[in-house]
Amino acid sequence: MRHTVIINVLAFVAAAFATACDDGRIYPVDADLSDDNGMRVIMTGTITGAGTAYESGYTLALAAFDDGNEFAVVSKTVGDGSEAVELVNVSPSVSSIELCVINSLRKRIATLASISVSGSAGERVEFEIGDVDASPFAVINHEIFSTTCIQCHGATGHAAAGLDLRAEEAYGMLVGVASTVENGMQRVCPGDAAASTLWRAVATDVSSSWSFHHNNLLTPDRCGFIENWINNTQDD
Ligand code: HEC
Repeated sequence: MRHTVIINVLAFVAAAFATACDDGRIYPVDADLSDDNGMRVIMTGTITGAGTAYESGYTLALAAFDDGNEFAVVSKTVGDGSEAVELVNVSPSVSSIELCVINSLRKRIATLASISVSGSAGERVEFEIGDVDASPFAVINHEIFSTTCIQCHGATGHAAAGLDLRAEEAYGMLVGVASTVENGMQRVCPGDAAASTLWRAVATDVSSSWSFHHNNLLTPDRCGFIENWINNTQDD
């Protein structure tokens, strides 16, 4: 068996593990798997920040994907903690096992850690994720801002519109802070995505009149994830 580990270690704190039984095929850890037709995946590591933060159809999950397909073949919801999580009877045809955010259709929104697999029936696959901060804002920071925004917002020593979106700055630059572009608006108005310049910039056409048009930077799924985070953010 070959497996390559690609881990995005985000941050860490420790907590207790909670796993929910949902759409995956779930068996107790000590179940007899002798006539199991698929692979058995065991994820170890520590997840923090997920708490009850995943709502409105978004789920933090251990999931398996076929090559080139963004819909999970099988998935299991995971939460905070450091207890091992198992996914059994995973088809040997899958090409990656991921700790990821999926939507209600089991479509991948963001990958927090992944491993490539080319396994065979009955094989046991160890998936070590390390310490992962899975809070929605950490996911937005690492999977969206760092990849798509910071080249103009902070990484080169210049922050367009005075908005620095590097991980250590982003929260304080956004939440409850007045927009420099839209009069009377906040960049992130806690609890109200529609009144937040951040969401409006990426999900609507409002930035067509700005010096940079932001509307095609993110997929609708990712805009939806930002919307969900803002709507669940409270005033400090
Ligand atoms: C190619 C450069 C570039 C990229 C990439 C970019 N931006 Fe911008 N952004 C700008 C510029 C320039 C402005 C200021 C527009 C103006 O003043 O007319 C701006 C303004 C903004 C504002 C308004 C700030 C305020 O004070 O209200 C937000 C929010 C924003 N960007 C978010 C993002 C996000 C989120 C991403 C990534 C998904 C991103 N930007 C990617 C150049 C960029």
